[in-house]
Amino acid sequence: MATTLLSAIWTVNLALNNPLCPVHADNIAFGVAGAAYQTEGSPHADGRSPSIWDVYVEKNPKKIRDGSTGAVTCDHYHRFKEDFALMKKLGVKNYRFSISWGRIVPSGRKGGAVNPKGVAFYNAVIDSMIENGISPAATLYHWDIPQTNQDEYKGFLGREVIDDFAYFADVAFKHFGDRVKKWITFNEPWVVCNIQWGNGDFAPGVNEGEKGKWLCGHNLLLSHAAAVKVYRGKFKAQKGKIGMALWSEWSEPYTDAPEDKRAAQNKMDIDFGWFADTIHFGDYPPLVKKLKAAYLPEFTEAEKQLLKRSYDYVGMTLYTAKYAHYNGNPDGWWVMTKDKDGNILGEQAESYWLYNVPWAINRMLNYLDKRYDRPEIWILENGISEKGEAARVGAARLHDPLRTKYFSGYVDEVCKAQQTGVRLTHYFIWSFMDNWEWREGFSTRFGIVRVDFDNKNLTRTPKTSATWLQKNIFSRSQKK
Ligand code: NOJ
Repeated sequence: MATTLLSAIWTVNLALNNPLCPVHADNIAFGVAGAAYQTEGSPHADGRSPSIWDVYVEKNPKKIRDGSTGAVTCDHYHRFKEDFALMKKLGVKNYRFSISWGRIVPSGRKGGAVNPKGVAFYNAVIDSMIENGISPAATLYHWDIPQTNQDEYKGFLGREVIDDFAYFADVAFKHFGDRVKKWITFNEPWVVCNIQWGNGDFAPGVNEGEKGKWLCGHNLLLSHAAAVKVYRGKFKAQKGKIGMALWSEWSEPYTDAPEDKRAAQNKMDIDFGWFADTIHFGDYPPLVKKLKAAYLPEFTEAEKQLLKRSYDYVGMTLYTAKYAHYNGNPDGWWVMTKDKDGNILGEQAESYWLYNVPWAINRMLNYLDKRYDRPEIWILENGISEKGEAARVGAARLHDPLRTKYFSGYVDEVCKAQQTGVRLTHYFIWSFMDNWEWREGFSTRFGIVRVDFDNKNLTRTPKTSATWLQKNIFSRSQKK
C-alpha cells in the first residue's frame, strides 16, 4: 500500500515537474561514472607503475588537442572524499569507477607483487563511498594497462595478457570484493581493439591494422572469460555480478528497404556482436567469421564453453545513433548522420561522433532484450558534451541546457522501454565531473559538475543539469 502510494506521488511529481513518462525508478539504480586515468592524477604516487597513457602523452603531446595530460586532471587521488560528499549532496547512490592496474599490481604480470599502498588507496575510496551511502561498481580495465605489458608482449596482442589480467582481477576481487558487488571486466572493448591496438590513435599509439584489431579482440575476450571464471569459482561466495561495458551506437536503417535493414544489422554484428554475441553464444557472429576469416583466430571448444554466457548482465555504454545505408555490398553499410529527408540525427555535441538522439536508447534496449533472451541490462555510460563548453565564462560555465535536455529525453525513452518489459536495472551517467577526455584533453566536457582546471583548487561546482538530475532522478531513486 505504502509503495503504491509512493509510486503514485512519484508519478504525479514527475508529471508536474517535467514531461517525463513515469519511470519506475525503484527498478533502476541510477548513478554517475568516472575512470582512473581520467580523474585521479598522481601517476607516480605510492608505487604505481606507468601505464601506456603516461608514456603516450609524454611522447606525443601534439596528439592531444590542448597538449594536456592526465597527470593532475581532477586530482581525485587526493580529493575523493570531497567528491563523494558532493555526490551524496546531489542524492547520488551509485558510482562507477575504475581500478588502475599499475597501482595494485605494478609489474602488470601474473604472480607480481601486490602494492599495499595501491590497495590501501582503493580501500579508502570504497570505504568513503560506502560512508556516503554510495554503492561502488568497479571497472577493471578502463584503457590503462601497465607499460611493462606493452613492452614485454605488446599488451592485448600477446596471449600472456590472459593470465596477467586474470591475476589482476583475482587480486581486485580478493581485496575489494567484500564491499564491491558489481564488476565490469572491460570498458569498451571496441575502442580498445579499434583505437588502442587497431589504428593507433590512442595509447600505446602503434598501428597494428586489421590483424592487430582482431587479435586484440580475441585475447581480450579470453581475458574476460578467464576473469569471470575466477570470479564465479574462487570468489563465488562474494555473490556479486560481473559483465562488460560494451560500446555501440544504435544502428538505425536509413529506410524501410530490406537492403537498409540488413546494412543496419551488419553494423550491429561487426561493431557490437563481435563482443556481445561472443560472450552470449560462445562464438563470433557468422558475419564476423565470414568477413574477417583472414585475421580471426579460432576458439577451441573449451574456450567457447568458457565464453558462453560469461556475464550476469548485458552492459553497455550508449550515447547516440547513426543511420546505416546499403552501400552496394550486401555485407556492408554506409554510416549516415542525416535521414533520407536531410534531417540531422539530433543536436551535435562537442564530440564529433555524438548527437542527441533519445530514441536510440529505447531501440537499443529492445534490441538487447530480444537478442539476448530478456537479460538484465546495465547502461554503464550515457551523456553528452556541449559545444564550446570548456571556453565558457561567468554564469554560462554552469549552464548546460543541452545536457539537461539530453537526459530528460533519454530517461523518457527508458520509461517507454520499461513499458515493453525491458529489464534495465542500472543507469550510469557519464560523467560525474569534467575530466581528461583522452585525445580531447580538457577541451571537451562531459561532467554534470564543472571542474575549473585553470584554477589551482580545481573547484567543483554542480551545473544546472546536476540540479535537474538531483531533483528529478537521484533524489527519487533509492535503488543501489
Ligand atoms: C567512453 C569512455 O568509456 C569514457 O572514458 C569517455 O570519456 C566517454 N565515453 C566520453 O567519450
